[in-house]
Amino acid sequence: MCIRDRTDGVVTLRPLGEDDVPFYTELHSLPDVVATSVPPIPPGPAEVRRRCSWAASHWLAGGRADMIVVDTASGLPAGEISLYYQEPRTAQAMIGYSMMPAFRGRGLTTRAAKLIALWAFAETGVARLIAGTLPDNLGSQRVLMKAGFRREAYLRSRLPGVAGTRHDDVQFVLLAEDLLAQASGGELTQPG
Ligand SMILES: CC(C)(COP(=O)(O)OP(=O)(O)OC[C@H]1O[C@@H](n2cnc3c(N)ncnc32)[C@H](O)[C@@H]1OP(=O)(O)O)[C@@H](O)C(=O)NCCC(=O)NCCS
Repeated sequence: MCIRDRTDGVVTLRPLGEDDVPFYTELHSLPDVVATSVPPIPPGPAEVRRRCSWAASHWLAGGRADMIVVDTASGLPAGEISLYYQEPRTAQAMIGYSMMPAFRGRGLTTRAAKLIALWAFAETGVARLIAGTLPDNLGSQRVLMKAGFRREAYLRSRLPGVAGTRHDDVQFVLLAEDLLAQASGGELTQPG
C-alpha cells in the first residue's frame, strides 16, 4: 500500500519526507508537543532525520505512516499526523498528531483526523482506530470527539512521564461504522 496525498480541499495530507527536517524539528521542540509525546522527550537531530528519511519505508514495512498536514490554501506545512499500526494481529491502529500554534483553532486537526481515518478504513485492514490523550488535554479530546471518536477507557498509569513518573491516558476509539454514521448525519452518542 503506497501513501499518496489526500485532501478534503482545506487540508492536504502528504507523506513526511527528507525536506521536512526543519519543520519537524521546530514542531517537535514546542513545549506542549513535547509534553504530549510518548515518551515526553524531544527527538534529537539524528532521530528527526531518521523519521523524515525513513517515512516511506516505515509504511512499506507496515508499521507507521507519518504525514504532514498542509494548509491547502497557502501550501504551508501546518502540523503532522501519524498512523501507527501497533497491533496488526487484532487490526488495531493508533493515531497521533500535533499542530503549529499559528494553524490551531481552525479545525485543521479535526479534518486531518477524519482524512487519515477514512484512508485507514478504506484502504488498509484497520478495524479499530484508537487515540490516547492526557486527561487534561481537552483540546485533543475535543478534536477526537469532533472527528467521530468515542471515549472508551481511562487507563491508569498508561504512559511514561519524565524522570520515571507515569501518566494516566484517556483512550478514544473510532470504528468504520461510526464514521459512516457521522457522514450520513447520524447522531453519535457517547456510551455511559
Ligand atoms: C491538540 C491540537 C492538535 C488541536 O489542534 P487544533 O488544530 O487547534 O484543533 P481543531 O482546530 O481541529 O479544534 C477542534 C476542536 O477542539 C477545540 N480545541 C482546540 N484546542 C483546544 C483547547 N486547548 N482547549 C479546548 N478546546 C480546544 C476547538 O475549539 C474545536 O472545537 P469547536 O469547533 O467546538 O470550537 C493542538 O492544540 C496541538 O498541537 N497541541 C499540542 C500537541 C497535542 O496536544 N497533540 C495531541 C496529543 S494527544
